[in-house]
Amino acid sequence: MQYLHFSDLSLEQQTHALNLVYQDYTMPFQVSQEWVVEHLHAHQIDPQRSPLWVDRRGVVALSLLALRGQRAWIGGFGIAPAYRGRRFSLPLLRACLEGLQADCVQLEVLTGNLKAQATYRRAGFEVTRQLAVLEGPAGPPHQEIQPAGSPCWQRESESLARLADLRVVKGSLVYRGNLIHQVGPGACWGDLPVVGTLRVSNEPVGSPLYQQLIGLGWREVARQYEMSR
Ligand SMILES: CC(C)(COP(=O)(O)OP(=O)(O)OC[C@H]1O[C@@H](n2cnc3c(N)ncnc32)[C@H](O)[C@@H]1OP(=O)(O)O)[C@@H](O)C(=O)NCCC(=O)NCCS
Repeated sequence: MQYLHFSDLSLEQQTHALNLVYQDYTMPFQVSQEWVVEHLHAHQIDPQRSPLWVDRRGVVALSLLALRGQRAWIGGFGIAPAYRGRRFSLPLLRACLEGLQADCVQLEVLTGNLKAQATYRRAGFEVTRQLAVLEGPAGPPHQEIQPAGSPCWQRESESLARLADLRVVKGSLVYRGNLIHQVGPGACWGDLPVVGTLRVSNEPVGSPLYQQLIGLGWREVARQYEMSR
Protein backbone atom coordinates (compact mmCIF):
# COMPACT_ATOMS: atom_id res chain seq x y z
CA MET A 1 0.00 0.00 0.00
CA GLN A 2 1.20 3.52 -0.80
CA TYR A 3 0.11 6.39 1.43
CA LEU A 4 -0.30 9.47 -0.78
CA HIS A 5 -2.41 12.60 -0.78
CA PHE A 6 -5.28 13.69 -3.01
CA SER A 7 -2.97 16.38 -4.43
CA ASP A 8 -0.81 13.62 -5.96
CA LEU A 9 -3.56 12.89 -8.53
CA SER A 10 -4.47 14.80 -11.69
CA LEU A 11 -7.97 16.28 -11.84
CA GLU A 12 -9.08 13.39 -14.04
CA GLN A 13 -7.71 10.87 -11.54
CA GLN A 14 -9.26 12.74 -8.59
CA THR A 15 -12.67 12.61 -10.29
CA HIS A 16 -12.28 8.91 -11.03
CA ALA A 17 -11.13 8.22 -7.45
CA LEU A 18 -14.15 9.98 -5.94
CA ASN A 19 -16.55 8.16 -8.23
CA LEU A 20 -14.88 4.87 -7.35
CA VAL A 21 -15.03 5.23 -3.57
CA TYR A 22 -18.64 6.47 -3.75
CA GLN A 23 -19.74 3.50 -5.89
CA ASP A 24 -22.89 1.85 -4.45
CA TYR A 25 -23.37 4.82 -2.09
CA THR A 26 -26.77 4.99 -0.37
CA MET A 27 -27.72 7.69 -2.93
CA PRO A 28 -26.49 7.77 -6.55
CA PHE A 29 -23.36 9.94 -6.51
CA GLN A 30 -21.37 10.52 -9.69
CA VAL A 31 -19.29 13.67 -10.00
CA SER A 32 -17.68 15.58 -12.89
CA GLN A 33 -14.30 17.30 -13.07
CA GLU A 34 -16.07 20.67 -12.79
CA TRP A 35 -17.78 19.48 -9.61
CA VAL A 36 -14.45 18.42 -8.11
CA VAL A 37 -12.81 21.78 -8.87
CA GLU A 38 -15.70 23.67 -7.27
CA HIS A 39 -15.98 21.31 -4.30
CA LEU A 40 -12.30 21.67 -3.37
CA HIS A 41 -12.28 25.42 -3.89
CA ALA A 42 -15.61 26.42 -2.35
CA HIS A 43 -15.35 24.27 0.74
CA GLN A 44 -11.64 24.88 1.35
CA ILE A 45 -10.56 21.27 1.06
CA ASP A 46 -6.79 20.94 1.34
CA PRO A 47 -5.76 18.16 -1.10
CA GLN A 48 -2.27 18.11 0.42
CA ARG A 49 -3.74 17.13 3.80
CA SER A 50 -6.24 14.66 2.40
CA PRO A 51 -5.05 11.03 2.56
CA LEU A 52 -5.20 8.84 -0.51
CA TRP A 53 -4.31 5.18 -0.31
CA VAL A 54 -3.38 3.25 -3.44
CA ASP A 55 -1.96 -0.16 -4.22
CA ARG A 56 -0.75 -1.63 -7.50
CA ARG A 57 -4.37 -2.18 -8.61
CA GLY A 58 -5.33 1.47 -8.07
CA VAL A 59 -7.18 3.61 -5.54
CA VAL A 60 -8.02 1.94 -2.23
CA ALA A 61 -9.39 4.77 -0.11
CA LEU A 62 -9.51 8.52 0.31
CA SER A 63 -10.63 11.14 2.79
CA LEU A 64 -10.94 14.84 2.01
CA LEU A 65 -10.08 17.31 4.77
CA ALA A 66 -11.19 20.95 4.73
CA LEU A 67 -9.91 23.64 7.06
CA ARG A 68 -11.51 26.93 8.09
CA GLY A 69 -9.63 28.68 10.86
CA GLN A 70 -9.59 26.37 13.86
CA ARG A 71 -12.35 24.19 12.43
CA ALA A 72 -12.09 21.23 10.10
CA TRP A 73 -14.58 19.30 7.96
CA ILE A 74 -14.49 15.93 6.26
CA GLY A 75 -15.77 16.66 2.76
CA GLY A 76 -15.50 13.19 1.23
CA PHE A 77 -14.72 9.76 2.63
CA GLY A 78 -14.78 6.33 1.10
CA ILE A 79 -13.22 2.96 0.46
CA ALA A 80 -13.12 1.42 -3.03
CA PRO A 81 -15.69 -1.41 -3.30
CA ALA A 82 -13.06 -4.16 -3.62
CA TYR A 83 -11.53 -3.16 -0.26
CA ARG A 84 -14.67 -2.69 1.84
CA GLY A 85 -15.37 -4.80 4.88
CA ARG A 86 -11.69 -5.01 5.87
CA ARG A 87 -11.93 -2.40 8.61
CA PHE A 88 -9.90 0.15 6.62
CA SER A 89 -12.27 3.01 7.35
CA LEU A 90 -11.18 3.75 10.95
CA PRO A 91 -7.43 3.81 10.13
CA LEU A 92 -8.25 6.03 7.14
CA LEU A 93 -10.15 8.45 9.35
CA ARG A 94 -7.34 8.44 11.91
CA ALA A 95 -4.80 9.15 9.16
CA CYS A 96 -6.92 12.09 8.05
CA LEU A 97 -7.09 13.55 11.56
CA GLU A 98 -3.49 12.83 12.53
CA GLY A 99 -1.60 15.92 13.68
CA LEU A 100 -4.64 18.12 13.12
CA GLN A 101 -4.69 21.24 15.30
CA ALA A 102 -8.41 21.98 15.14
CA ASP A 103 -10.86 22.83 17.92
CA CYS A 104 -13.63 20.98 16.14
CA VAL A 105 -13.99 18.55 13.24
CA GLN A 106 -17.37 18.24 11.52
CA LEU A 107 -18.89 15.93 8.93
CA GLU A 108 -22.27 14.84 7.62
CA VAL A 109 -23.47 11.28 7.14
CA LEU A 110 -26.74 9.94 5.74
CA THR A 111 -28.93 8.58 8.53
CA GLY A 112 -29.06 5.20 6.75
CA ASN A 113 -25.27 4.89 6.38
CA LEU A 114 -24.70 2.72 9.45
CA LYS A 115 -21.19 1.56 8.51
CA ALA A 116 -19.87 5.09 8.18
CA GLN A 117 -21.61 6.08 11.42
CA ALA A 118 -19.99 3.15 13.25
CA THR A 119 -16.56 4.37 12.11
CA TYR A 120 -17.21 8.00 13.00
CA ARG A 121 -18.50 7.07 16.46
CA ARG A 122 -15.46 4.91 17.09
CA ALA A 123 -13.29 7.92 16.28
CA GLY A 124 -15.16 9.97 18.89
CA PHE A 125 -17.68 11.81 16.68
CA GLU A 126 -21.12 12.54 18.10
CA VAL A 127 -24.33 13.64 16.43
CA THR A 128 -24.88 17.37 16.88
CA ARG A 129 -28.06 17.82 14.82
CA GLN A 130 -30.06 16.52 11.87
CA LEU A 131 -30.05 18.08 8.41
CA ALA A 132 -32.65 17.55 5.69
CA VAL A 133 -32.53 17.79 1.91
CA LEU A 134 -35.91 19.04 0.73
CA GLU A 135 -37.65 19.62 -2.59
CA GLY A 136 -40.89 21.36 -3.41
CA PRO A 137 -42.72 24.30 -4.97
CA ALA A 138 -42.45 27.99 -4.10
CA GLY A 139 -44.97 29.29 -1.57
CA PRO A 140 -47.50 32.08 -2.18
CA PRO A 141 -45.77 35.14 -3.79
CA HIS A 142 -46.42 37.50 -0.85
CA GLN A 143 -45.47 35.03 1.87
CA GLU A 144 -42.13 35.84 3.50
CA ILE A 145 -39.60 33.00 3.29
CA GLN A 146 -38.69 31.98 6.81
CA PRO A 147 -35.02 32.23 7.83
CA ALA A 148 -32.76 29.24 7.47
CA GLY A 149 -31.12 27.65 10.50
CA SER A 150 -27.45 28.00 11.34
CA PRO A 151 -25.73 26.84 8.15
CA CYS A 152 -23.82 23.61 7.69
CA TRP A 153 -20.23 23.87 6.34
CA GLN A 154 -21.25 23.92 2.66
CA ARG A 155 -23.73 26.74 3.20
CA GLU A 156 -21.53 28.93 5.40
CA SER A 157 -20.69 32.37 3.99
CA GLU A 158 -17.07 31.26 3.34
CA SER A 159 -18.38 28.59 0.94
CA LEU A 160 -20.95 30.84 -0.70
CA ALA A 161 -18.34 33.56 -1.30
CA ARG A 162 -16.37 31.05 -3.40
CA LEU A 163 -19.27 29.82 -5.55
CA ALA A 164 -19.70 31.28 -9.04
CA ASP A 165 -23.05 32.37 -10.50
CA LEU A 166 -24.82 32.85 -7.19
CA ARG A 167 -27.88 35.12 -7.25
CA VAL A 168 -28.78 37.32 -4.28
CA VAL A 169 -32.25 38.79 -3.71
CA LYS A 170 -32.77 41.67 -1.24
CA GLY A 171 -29.41 40.92 0.31
CA SER A 172 -30.81 37.92 2.16
CA LEU A 173 -31.92 35.21 -0.26
CA VAL A 174 -29.05 33.42 -1.99
CA TYR A 175 -29.72 30.84 -4.70
CA ARG A 176 -28.26 29.25 -7.81
CA GLY A 177 -30.48 27.58 -10.35
CA ASN A 178 -33.21 25.81 -8.38
CA LEU A 179 -31.06 25.41 -5.25
CA ILE A 180 -31.67 27.85 -2.39
CA HIS A 181 -28.44 28.29 -0.47
CA GLN A 182 -29.32 30.78 2.24
CA VAL A 183 -32.37 32.67 3.51
CA GLY A 184 -32.27 35.65 5.84
CA PRO A 185 -35.18 37.93 6.77
CA GLY A 186 -37.05 40.04 4.24
CA ALA A 187 -37.47 38.03 1.03
CA CYS A 188 -40.78 36.64 -0.23
CA TRP A 189 -41.42 33.64 -2.47
CA GLY A 190 -42.44 36.01 -5.27
CA ASP A 191 -38.93 37.54 -5.19
CA LEU A 192 -37.50 34.25 -6.42
CA PRO A 193 -37.54 34.28 -10.24
CA VAL A 194 -37.43 30.49 -10.53
CA VAL A 195 -40.07 28.13 -11.91
CA GLY A 196 -40.42 24.45 -11.12
CA THR A 197 -39.23 22.41 -8.19
CA LEU A 198 -36.95 24.14 -5.72
CA ARG A 199 -34.38 22.42 -3.52
CA VAL A 200 -32.74 23.16 -0.16
CA SER A 201 -29.82 21.01 0.90
CA ASN A 202 -28.87 20.21 4.50
CA GLU A 203 -31.32 22.48 6.26
CA PRO A 204 -31.35 21.98 10.06
CA VAL A 205 -34.43 19.96 10.99
CA GLY A 206 -36.85 22.12 12.99
CA SER A 207 -35.55 25.50 11.76
CA PRO A 208 -38.16 28.12 10.80
CA LEU A 209 -37.40 27.47 7.11
CA TYR A 210 -37.66 23.69 7.55
CA GLN A 211 -41.04 24.03 9.26
CA GLN A 212 -42.33 26.36 6.57
CA LEU A 213 -41.21 24.03 3.76
CA ILE A 214 -42.85 21.01 5.40
CA GLY A 215 -46.03 23.11 5.78
CA LEU A 216 -45.87 23.90 2.05
CA GLY A 217 -45.78 20.18 1.28
CA TRP A 218 -42.07 19.92 0.44
CA ARG A 219 -40.70 16.38 0.29
CA GLU A 220 -37.71 15.33 2.37
CA VAL A 221 -35.46 13.48 -0.08
CA ALA A 222 -32.62 12.74 2.35
CA ARG A 223 -31.69 13.21 5.97
CA GLN A 224 -28.20 13.44 7.40
CA TYR A 225 -26.63 13.57 10.81
CA GLU A 226 -24.16 16.35 11.35
CA MET A 227 -21.46 14.91 13.61
CA SER A 228 -18.51 16.55 15.32
CA ARG A 229 -15.75 15.87 17.77
C1 LIG B 1 -18.71 3.73 4.66
C2 LIG B 1 -17.40 3.04 4.28
C3 LIG B 1 -16.27 4.06 4.24
C4 LIG B 1 -17.09 1.98 5.37
O1 LIG B 1 -15.97 1.26 4.99
P1 LIG B 1 -16.05 -0.37 4.94
O2 LIG B 1 -14.76 -0.86 4.46
O3 LIG B 1 -17.26 -0.74 4.17
O4 LIG B 1 -16.33 -0.75 6.46
P2 LIG B 1 -15.28 -1.23 7.57
O5 LIG B 1 -14.84 -2.64 7.27
O6 LIG B 1 -14.19 -0.23 7.71
O7 LIG B 1 -16.21 -1.25 8.85
C5 LIG B 1 -16.70 -0.03 9.37
C6 LIG B 1 -17.57 -0.29 10.55
O8 LIG B 1 -18.89 -0.65 10.09
C7 LIG B 1 -19.33 -1.78 10.85
N1 LIG B 1 -20.33 -2.45 10.04
C8 LIG B 1 -20.15 -3.32 9.04
N2 LIG B 1 -21.34 -3.66 8.51
C9 LIG B 1 -22.27 -2.96 9.18
C10 LIG B 1 -23.67 -2.85 9.10
N3 LIG B 1 -24.38 -3.52 8.18
N4 LIG B 1 -24.32 -2.02 9.96
C11 LIG B 1 -23.64 -1.32 10.88
N5 LIG B 1 -22.29 -1.37 11.00
C12 LIG B 1 -21.63 -2.18 10.16
C13 LIG B 1 -18.06 -2.54 11.08
O9 LIG B 1 -18.22 -3.46 12.12
C14 LIG B 1 -17.11 -1.42 11.45
O10 LIG B 1 -17.36 -0.95 12.76
P3 LIG B 1 -16.47 -1.42 13.99
O11 LIG B 1 -15.04 -1.12 13.62
O12 LIG B 1 -16.97 -0.58 15.11
O13 LIG B 1 -16.74 -2.88 14.14
C15 LIG B 1 -17.50 2.32 2.91
O14 LIG B 1 -18.52 1.36 2.96
C16 LIG B 1 -17.74 3.26 1.75
O15 LIG B 1 -16.80 3.81 1.19
N6 LIG B 1 -19.03 3.45 1.34
C17 LIG B 1 -19.37 4.31 0.22
C18 LIG B 1 -19.04 5.78 0.48
C19 LIG B 1 -19.55 6.23 1.83
O16 LIG B 1 -20.60 5.82 2.31
N7 LIG B 1 -18.80 7.15 2.46
C20 LIG B 1 -19.14 7.76 3.72
C21 LIG B 1 -19.76 9.08 3.45
S1 LIG B 1 -20.27 9.87 4.97
